[in-house]
Amino acid sequence: MHFYEVLDDMFNEFEEYKDIKKGKGVRGTLITTISPKSIKLAAVVEAIHLASLLHDDVIDEATLRRGVLSINAKYGDFTAVMLGDIIYSRAFYELTSFNEKVAKIISNAVYLLSQGELEDVKLSKEMNLDKEKYLQMIYKKTASLIEASCKAAALEEGYDEDDFGLYGKNIGIAFQIIDDLLDITQDEKTLGKPSMLDFKEGKMTLPYIYLYEALDEADREKLKSLYKKDLSETEKEWIKNKMNELGIISKCYNEAKELVEEAKKAITEYNIPKLEIIAEKIVDRKF
Ligand code: FPP
Ligand code: MG
Repeated sequence: MHFYEVLDDMFNEFEEYKDIKKGKGVRGTLITTISPKSIKLAAVVEAIHLASLLHDDVIDEATLRRGVLSINAKYGDFTAVMLGDIIYSRAFYELTSFNEKVAKIISNAVYLLSQGELEDVKLSKEMNLDKEKYLQMIYKKTASLIEASCKAAALEEGYDEDDFGLYGKNIGIAFQIIDDLLDITQDEKTLGKPSMLDFKEGKMTLPYIYLYEALDEADREKLKSLYKKDLSETEKEWIKNKMNELGIISKCYNEAKELVEEAKKAITEYNIPKLEIIAEKIVDRKF
């Protein structure tokens, strides 16, 4: 049985759930790759992730998720928040049937990702130029649950939790850096949501932080004047061209690649080729 079937069995009774399109299932796939027997754990983590996205789309006022109307756009914020709560609480109910260490690792990650989301909201209020703050935030918001998934699955298999935790942390940070790059480099059709939305939402992701650092004074002023604005095609092109000219896109891409190499190093001794493939796919993807 696939973890997505377990997830469907849990939530199909809720009619709005049927309108949610499946994602890449990165977290669930990592868990079942490390620990093939851990299908229920994979479903629990995917449920937590799904709940967090339902809430995130309300917070971000997003109308599209995975190329289809988001639940908040289709049914309103209240429904999206409550459906998120239903999915989230069922996931925690299921988590109590796992051993205490596994339950603590996963629940602590949810504590962290909620803090990460709050930090994301706070950092979006004004132009953040602090790379460390950005990295802390994406570690919490995205990498913590990926790290926890790998740790918990490792524990279920009797592997070293720290080796797999390091793998998960590094691919998690790389995953979010790539996500933030794709927001700039890809078009709406590929992304399943409008392009260059982050900057409009006030999110100073890594490419924007590096761009600001590399620009001269006049161009910095221009970038500042575009911050949080609805960008025209010409303005979008200006930002993209500057990023390309100054080597920002490849700089971010290479940083993500380095993290992936670190990740692979942490688990080489276990010889699980699929984990290396997943790590590479995280940087070599279009959406
Ligand atoms: C997506 O970020 C958001 C997250 C990975 C975490 C969101 C967490 C919460 C809303 C806390 C609530 C938690 C639970 C379990 C109910 P993004 O906006 O950068 O990505 P996107 O472009 O895919 O929206
Ligand atoms: Mg969002």
